[in-house]
Amino acid sequence: MHPSYINSFLVFAAQKNTDVESFLTDKNKAIRLENASKSRTYLILDDGSGQILAYFSLSIKEVSLNQNNETKISKGLRKKLDGICKNSERVNAYLIGQIGKNDSVADNQINLSYILEEAYTIIDKANQLVGGRVIILECEKAEKLVALYQKNGFNILIDNPAERLITMYICVR
Ligand SMILES: CC(C)(COP(=O)(O)OP(=O)(O)OC[C@H]1O[C@@H](n2cnc3c(N)ncnc32)[C@H](O)[C@@H]1OP(=O)(O)O)[C@@H](O)C(=O)NCCC(=O)NCCS
Repeated sequence: MHPSYINSFLVFAAQKNTDVESFLTDKNKAIRLENASKSRTYLILDDGSGQILAYFSLSIKEVSLNQNNETKISKGLRKKLDGICKNSERVNAYLIGQIGKNDSVADNQINLSYILEEAYTIIDKANQLVGGRVIILECEKAEKLVALYQKNGFNILIDNPAERLITMYICVR
């Protein structure tokens, strides 16, 4: 992410999720995390106008598999996620965070599958260099949003009734 896009953030709007919107527009969030190397934020720009069409961020997160979950995580799934151990209690995952398309762009043609392909291209590079088996995202418990991620190959991993967000996963291809 280049600092010259800071001004463009001011016209980024994600009406369905204000957290996503403020992540870019609030200087204490995306830019602070970028400078601290805690995550990397990627912007998808329109070739012609240079407008931000969408963005997402990538980082690494450890996920505990022993949370209070709606559905118990099987030994088979633990092994699939860990790669070796069927009793694994936690896994390291690539976290795709803050996915959002820019609602302030008229007739914005970007959709989730396009954004995910961009994310996978970057994750593939990291995977070749350092390994990693699992990609997660944390999304609101909104039926349509969860269904959209499922349509794009994600499954629910952790649905803790006490938490606002659910964790969904897909294996690195
Ligand atoms: C996630 C996103 C990029 C998907 O874009 P897309 O593939 O073009 O899909 P749509 O925007 O048409 O969304 C599909 C459906 O999910 C709904 N939806 C999307 N985000 C939602 C949210 N945060 N809460 C509730 N519903 C949501 C849409 O209203 C739409 O419903 P509809 O078919 O009745 O119109 C885009 O919806 C977005 O930027 N959402 C706001 C930010 C967000 O919620 N990001 C996810 C954080 S995990």
